[in-house]
Amino acid sequence: MKNIKISPSILSADFSQLGKEISNLEKGGADLIHVDVMDGHFVPNLTIGPPVIKALRKYTKLPFDVHLMISPVHKYIKDFANAGSDIITIHPEATKDLKESIMHIKELNKKVGVSLNPNTKIDVIKSHLSNIDLVLIMSVFPGFGGQKFIPETIKKIKDLKEIKDKNNYIFDIEVDGGVNFLNSKDIINAGANILVSGTTIFKENNGDIKKNIETLKSV
Ligand code: DX5
Ligand code: ZN
Repeated sequence: MKNIKISPSILSADFSQLGKEISNLEKGGADLIHVDVMDGHFVPNLTIGPPVIKALRKYTKLPFDVHLMISPVHKYIKDFANAGSDIITIHPEATKDLKESIMHIKELNKKVGVSLNPNTKIDVIKSHLSNIDLVLIMSVFPGFGGQKFIPETIKKIKDLKEIKDKNNYIFDIEVDGGVNFLNSKDIINAGANILVSGTTIFKENNGDIKKNIETLKSV
């Protein structure tokens, strides 16, 4: 059986009680907590920063999977590491020197992720693939929850999985945006092993988190 992990995005949670929402996600069987950080500049929306992550840290032992949609990202990496992030994912377009930012995250003893927007090619990060822990493939243009999955993403996941297998790389393949009960199977079969989901986890089946996580994982 495939070892699939679910990383619920708290973007769709009730922001007035994030601590409780995170405890519920852990109880419901989440594997990671996906935290979407937006700056109103790299993406057209604003969310939260390090103080909120720090405050939430005590509500769960699950790893914080922190998706930074901020630019320039480099100077903020340390603050996110100190706040209690476990995986720090950055976009190549958001830093002057991708290698330097990757090394910085590693030096802080955090797992490093690199994210590909729908129109960013795998080639852009090819030379870094041996050096990172996770590739986050965006299946929507980042900025908002509740968008429709872009079907061309399936081919990109397959291409990345092929490169991974051919070279015996160990990075996780995570997919983010519009993941639902209808497309999760194809996403997993294409080679992804971590699914991010906000809307499906919090809104389907009247917010039955456990059921929604189980359904997303089943292939
Ligand atoms: C989009 C974010 C996603 C998003 C996922 O910019 O990175 O994590 O919130 O939410 P859904 O599952 O609603 O597409
Ligand atoms: Zn995200």
